[in-house]
Amino acid sequence: MKTDLPKTILLAEYAPPAYQVSTIDLEFRLDPHATRVTATSRFDRMAGAAADAPLVLDGAGLRLVSIMIDGAPVGPDRYDQQEERLVIRGVPAGFVLTVITEIDPAGNTALEGLYQSNGIFCTQCEAEGFRKITYFPDRPDVMARYRTTIIGDPVVLPVMLSNGNPVADETGPDGLRRIVWEDPFPKPSYLFALVAGDLALHEDSFTTISGRSVALRLYVEPRNADKCAHAMASLKKALAWDETAYGREYDLDIYMIVAVDDFNMGAMENKGLNVFNSKYILARPDTATDADYAGIEAVVAHEYFHNWTGNRITCRDWFQLSLKEGLTVFREQQFVADHQSAAVSRIHDVRVLRAAQFPEDAGPTAHPVRPDSYIEISNFYTSTVYNKGAEVIRMLHTLIGEDAYRRGMDLYFQRHDGQAVTCEDFIRAHADANDLDLGDFFRWYVQAGTPEVSVDTRHDPDAGTFDVTFTQTLAPTPGQPVKQPMVVPVRAALIGPDGAPLPMMLANEPADAPQAGALERVLVLSDRVTRFTFMQLPERPVPSLLRGFSAPVKLDTRAEDADLAFLMGHDDDPFNRWEAAQTYAIRVIHRLIADIGAGRPLVLPLEFREAFTRTITDDALDPALVAEALTLPGESYLAETMSRIDVEGITTARQFVRREIGRSLEPQLIALFDRLEAAEAGQPYAFETAAVGRRSLANLCLAYLGAAGGAAGLERAERRFATATNMTDALGGLLVLADQPGELSQPAFDAFYDRWKDEPLVVDKWFMVQATASRPDALDHVLTLMEHPAFSMRNPNRVRSLIGAFAASNPQGFHAADGRGYEFLADQIVALDAMNPQIAARLVGPFKRWRRYDDRRQGMMRAALERIMSRKSLSRDVYEMVTKSLA
Ligand code: TRP
Ligand code: ZN
Repeated sequence: MKTDLPKTILLAEYAPPAYQVSTIDLEFRLDPHATRVTATSRFDRMAGAAADAPLVLDGAGLRLVSIMIDGAPVGPDRYDQQEERLVIRGVPAGFVLTVITEIDPAGNTALEGLYQSNGIFCTQCEAEGFRKITYFPDRPDVMARYRTTIIGDPVVLPVMLSNGNPVADETGPDGLRRIVWEDPFPKPSYLFALVAGDLALHEDSFTTISGRSVALRLYVEPRNADKCAHAMASLKKALAWDETAYGREYDLDIYMIVAVDDFNMGAMENKGLNVFNSKYILARPDTATDADYAGIEAVVAHEYFHNWTGNRITCRDWFQLSLKEGLTVFREQQFVADHQSAAVSRIHDVRVLRAAQFPEDAGPTAHPVRPDSYIEISNFYTSTVYNKGAEVIRMLHTLIGEDAYRRGMDLYFQRHDGQAVTCEDFIRAHADANDLDLGDFFRWYVQAGTPEVSVDTRHDPDAGTFDVTFTQTLAPTPGQPVKQPMVVPVRAALIGPDGAPLPMMLANEPADAPQAGALERVLVLSDRVTRFTFMQLPERPVPSLLRGFSAPVKLDTRAEDADLAFLMGHDDDPFNRWEAAQTYAIRVIHRLIADIGAGRPLVLPLEFREAFTRTITDDALDPALVAEALTLPGESYLAETMSRIDVEGITTARQFVRREIGRSLEPQLIALFDRLEAAEAGQPYAFETAAVGRRSLANLCLAYLGAAGGAAGLERAERRFATATNMTDALGGLLVLADQPGELSQPAFDAFYDRWKDEPLVVDKWFMVQATASRPDALDHVLTLMEHPAFSMRNPNRVRSLIGAFAASNPQGFHAADGRGYEFLADQIVALDAMNPQIAARLVGPFKRWRRYDDRRQGMMRAALERIMSRKSLSRDVYEMVTKSLA
């Protein structure tokens, strides 16, 4: 907690450290409330640093026991203990520093540094948690070799782990066990990890491409031993994929993953010893949904891929976070696309980007993929750094092509292995490997905001030409009033009247030019206005633009409804078929919102219903894609498409469409549901693309039927809920019942809780479904659930399931006209800030777009933010989010 004003850290002020560390020897005497840490490190002054440069160590919340240099005690006259620093003067050019500190893991509710989760000791050091363990230069450009000794009672802590390999293990006459781990690879402090506790081991092995055998060890609480198979299978796939897709082999003899229940984020890539939120490891068909299985596969792979993109090559400073995160998310997306339906996985990527990143780019905390300032780095683990960062790598891949991209990656790995580098270094590797100038492309790292691209087309039947003119604009964002045009790759095709793509010949282009006459081309926009004239087109084609969402922009194609309907049925790019359906649905909802505002009666347009009917009745289509196409855009993205967010309008219009579809297509939806359910009957659960698609379409049918509230639909929902043998189907039923009156919903919730009360991840779902249910007493129900014995402010998953889900995904409840939703959230942020600032700061999110609501809501949201601000002691985390929101 800070009382004076937190200071802003600037990229422009980066300076390399005066001292480097080659080795660190850590000894932990584990004790819940008084763990003693002895850190012995070899320091050397860097060439270029002044001879009198002080040694600056980071440290926070530590009890300092002693300091020695080369074995001699250092008295308080030689050091200054500042708030989060220890500055030692008069140190020699090379020396061994020994620091002894004492820490309180059991009292650590921030879950950063060394803490306990259900009695298991574990660490979380990214970004700046190592300083809560010992005094050390806790910055990623200091890379050292670690040797870790763990001392503990083997009866209480039968498993004691750290990075690398065990090199000694003995139990002394005092009954205490001492185990020593050594990690041969130099690493920054944020990749350090230690775990100790009573854990069950699920073991397997993997033979690498060069024939080395790697032990794969998954550690979970003993009660979860039967939920490890899917995570282990995912890990093996990830090791194999990185070998073929990127030529990257694993480099240690052991790869360990530990699952804990209390974790601030998804997972952490510590060298050789990942620590995971149990949500991204544990799965059994009856406890985890298809979405959970997919999340596990993606996150296990993501953390594994960090071994090369993050660990072997790390970030020079935290401004470069996207160097590892954007790249690793892109690698994760490629991996998922190769293992699941590529089109569906791309649709999911784009949904996440639009629901989370676009609002961020348009709001008060907009920042570039590489930020240039921060108050608290934990606040910059954002959708911009992760998801837009991944889009930047994807655009690079699209612009230069797969072969050039692979050459660039090879050079990056070869040139920078073992180093802490910058985003410029990454782009330079690609430029050098392919003899390209990527200077303008780098603007994607530096300029915040989502470019808006509009399209004008003109067909000249006599000349047989088709002009496509793109105009891009990029609105100002905080601190960036004026912008340069971006380099935007637009994958494009021109679809002929029969649905087949036409050859794309540009005017003034030699017939043997690289893409001349291709059926799909990458059009590169690099100016504010870019025009392309295509030849030999006597009939007007329908343009299919930004295929596969080839750039993170808002594209306004100005297409007619008829063109959208044509693309929905004919575009050979499955992503763009989906996109046409989304655009069409958004238009319909916007028109309905206008009708509501004007007091006109609501009617679902006939053409929309017909397009919908054609899609559900076409047996040739992939069920997964049908489900995606027929899922209406979410409330968050709809809000993003309106300059002034109309809370009631969005909910009413969207509900109206859902109800009308459910009502008018009841027979078709029932027939389809029954057919899909019959196809599944008697089959054991498998997380396999076709089955996932069938379950998702069946649940979508049920959701529409539920929205209409007819007896046939509700009966099916009740039956599915009661008889399901997997969690995907059970939840599909429960979600429908949740929106029904208490006589129907409450018995289902009670039965669900009763069955699953001992499975924390399922109890999270129980909280979440209730928190997001649409009911008039939504907030009161959440307040009741806050008193439930299973609720705890200490567990981030629980907080996200109840408070986070309500604020982010229950617009009717959170934005209720009386403003109580806002007061509730402000109260919870204040209460949590005293325990876990990272989680408290995340909860500020729903307040960030307060300026986009009506005057009354604006006033109430601002008052809630100001009330948080008026608190005497706020964490840096919450302070930064609230001040920026109010600015
Ligand atoms: N590097 C982690 C990842 O894979 C992110 C992460 C895990 C993290 N735990 C954290 C970031 C705690 C900040 C704080 O993406
Ligand atoms: Zn990551």
